[in-house]
Amino acid sequence: MSGLSAELKQVFKEHGDQARPVNQAAVLGAGIMGGGITITNAAHGVPVIMKDIAQEQLDLGMKTASSQVDRLIKKEQMTQEQASQVLATIEPTLEYEGFDKVDGVIEAVVENLGLKHKVLDQLEAVVHDDTLIATNTSSLRIDDIGQHMKHPQRFVGMHFFNPVPVMPLVEIIQGTRTSDESVSTAVTWALKMGKTPIVVQDCPGFLVNRILTAYTRAFLQLVEKGADFEHVDRSMEAFGWPMGPAYLEDVIGIDTGSHVSDVISAGYPERMPHIENDAFRLMKSKDRLGQKNGKGFYEYTPDDSGRPQ
Ligand code: 3HC
Repeated sequence: MSGLSAELKQVFKEHGDQARPVNQAAVLGAGIMGGGITITNAAHGVPVIMKDIAQEQLDLGMKTASSQVDRLIKKEQMTQEQASQVLATIEPTLEYEGFDKVDGVIEAVVENLGLKHKVLDQLEAVVHDDTLIATNTSSLRIDDIGQHMKHPQRFVGMHFFNPVPVMPLVEIIQGTRTSDESVSTAVTWALKMGKTPIVVQDCPGFLVNRILTAYTRAFLQLVEKGADFEHVDRSMEAFGWPMGPAYLEDVIGIDTGSHVSDVISAGYPERMPHIENDAFRLMKSKDRLGQKNGKGFYEYTPDDSGRPQ
């Protein structure tokens, strides 16, 4: 337990023995986040069912998974044979078959409250009553997402960061009805995936996005006042950030970044009033959504280097 926060140590002291092991997982949504969560599970020995409603999304999720193992092969941290074994533990599907056998599910569908309600309703009908259900929401409150659930005590937030295979942090969010046992299970599962979990309160944006959004909004306001985004990126990278704000928005996704900003504005209207975000609006209208579709502030080629062209 070394390296864990005092708060986390306390959670373990009180409830650690309540954690249920997640030995078989499922991920709902095979986008960039869902694909990243899937391969992170598989690479840490947890077989995973990856479900989506569209075959092309499933293909994208498998591509995210393959490019991650390709990186590890290139770095000689994995052999071709090991990579094939890892990929074989991922079961892509358009149906809910096998969900009655999973210990934990992470929902990673788009940030639409109505859609999340619908998906959770479907999920509760197919999993066991004690299966942990987690949402990878970036900013919506857990209590709002889980408001219609039959067993809300097993519902928890597990907020990952992009790119999931490399970003260490996972925010574990406890709603008012989430049991301590579910928090312990989520923390233990995150540790099993090699992540650094922190337990945070259920509020719009949780911890990271409340801070990050102030930064990205300041950047967008600069751009709208005429600043050159590449110049800002170079400056912030020279300052020491791993990637400047424009490149970061491309990694997050312009649609996701815009949604997070709106949720934060609604949650903290006095401190972060609504701004029109003309840059975001223009980019969305031109279908420039970031790395996910190859064009955002920058353009990207289909190789997996990720760096802007
Ligand atoms: N998938 C998997 N691994 C990747 C990767 C990807 N997409 N991109 C890079 N990597 C790995 C590389 O293989 C390399 O691994 P190594 O050190 O073992 O060789 C390592 O990451 C560093 O990569 P590079 O040297 O190619 O590139 P960088 O030095 O620029 O690092 C980065 C890439 C780790 C992504 C770094 O730029 C970074 O930390 N950026 C910040 C990302 C961030 O802030 N994400 C959070 C966004 S907010 C969010 O997602 C929440 C949502 O709710 C909005």
